[in-house]
Amino acid sequence: MKKERILVTGGTGYIGSHTVVELQEAGYSVVIIDNLSNSNADVIDGIERITGVRPDFVEGDCTDIAVLSKLFTDYPDIKGIINFAASKAVGESMHKPILYYRNNLNTLLNLLDLMGPNGVKGIVFSSSCTVYGEPDENPVTEAAPIKKATSPYGNTKQISEEIITDVINAGAPFKSVILRYFNPVGAHPSAEIGELPNGVPQNLIPYLTQTAIGIRKELSVFGDDYNTPDGSCIRDYINVVDLAKAHVIAVERMLTDKTEDKIEIFNLGTGNGVSVLELIHTFEEATGVKVPHKIVGRRAGDIEKVWADPAYANEVLGWKATSSLADTMRSAWAWQQKLRERGIM
Ligand code: NAD
Ligand code: UFG
Repeated sequence: MKKERILVTGGTGYIGSHTVVELQEAGYSVVIIDNLSNSNADVIDGIERITGVRPDFVEGDCTDIAVLSKLFTDYPDIKGIINFAASKAVGESMHKPILYYRNNLNTLLNLLDLMGPNGVKGIVFSSSCTVYGEPDENPVTEAAPIKKATSPYGNTKQISEEIITDVINAGAPFKSVILRYFNPVGAHPSAEIGELPNGVPQNLIPYLTQTAIGIRKELSVFGDDYNTPDGSCIRDYINVVDLAKAHVIAVERMLTDKTEDKIEIFNLGTGNGVSVLELIHTFEEATGVKVPHKIVGRRAGDIEKVWADPAYANEVLGWKATSSLADTMRSAWAWQQKLRERGIM
């Protein structure tokens, strides 16, 4: 039996597209809205090839409330939202703060404004481990203090969490599950979808795979003078399909009233901290392909080290990241090679 319809904002993007696959495979109907500012509509073909179902797609900007209002009129059956639409590059946000505040906050405000009148029961929000700032202790639990954000991007996630909390505490007739992702990497095992940002990649893995295949000359490692064993930054790299599956569980909890509170917050990570240099070596060992790289200066806004304690999500959601980092690196490489085969990159 078909389940409810879910609105996925930013659904042609990296995490959004993998989540649409998992939602459709779990029986949900999906409508995507995306302005294609950091993705391509061809992603929808990839989703259809994997699932056999073509999700509905609206090209539009979530900062435009008239566009969203029309979408809710056209799809009166939307019962849940997953809000991926946002600008997401930590470094870029240091140079373009207005873009980040406007895009990320106006999108969220518009959705929250329209949910009640349109009978939407819940919203899953893509938050980030950047809300912890530079944590005092690793691994980080959800109870760790929210410290001053190191970038405007991180600040938009902190403010977004506060906005959701204020709106729900003011009596809004819906729920929210806030998911704090650590660093999603890799691609769908079919290599039909993966990470393909527009322009020069800002994130480590797409830059790394584009270097490995020869599109970029060398990967810059931003800093080797951090207080870490090899001097490069440490993150918790989580497989994107593992991450996507957690969204289906979150949606199910909201729509079947299984949530324990009107707002729930979960860390989504593996629990393992991996340095940039270790990640490069894992990629090289897993694929047999060398990645030319050089050490350069630190990138403004970067956090030194952060990794998750995922125990709360493991227990309450019954969810766990299971993919190995080597398999995840192989999936990222298979995707990059598929793009080459298709003449895209
Ligand atoms: P992405 O850039 O691949 O996907 C975001 C999508 O949203 C893109 O397709 C983009 O075109 C679209 N978009 C942006 N602004 C929009 C707007 N105003 N209206 C409509 N569409 C818009 O990014 P992603 O990696 O898939 O990230 C998804 C979400 O997860 C973001 O909110 C991001 O901040 C968050 N997040 C990402 C990471 C990560 O490392 N990738 C980590 C933590 C949190
Ligand atoms: N890095 C490099 N060279 C590059 C790109 C990145 O050395 O060319 C390093 C960064 O300095 C950092 C690590 O690789 O130490 C990961 O960088 P990313 O840009 O891939 O990821 P960030 O941790 O900066 O941020 C990402 C997303 C955010 C999200 C955050 C959660 O872009 O949206 O993960 O940790 F909030």
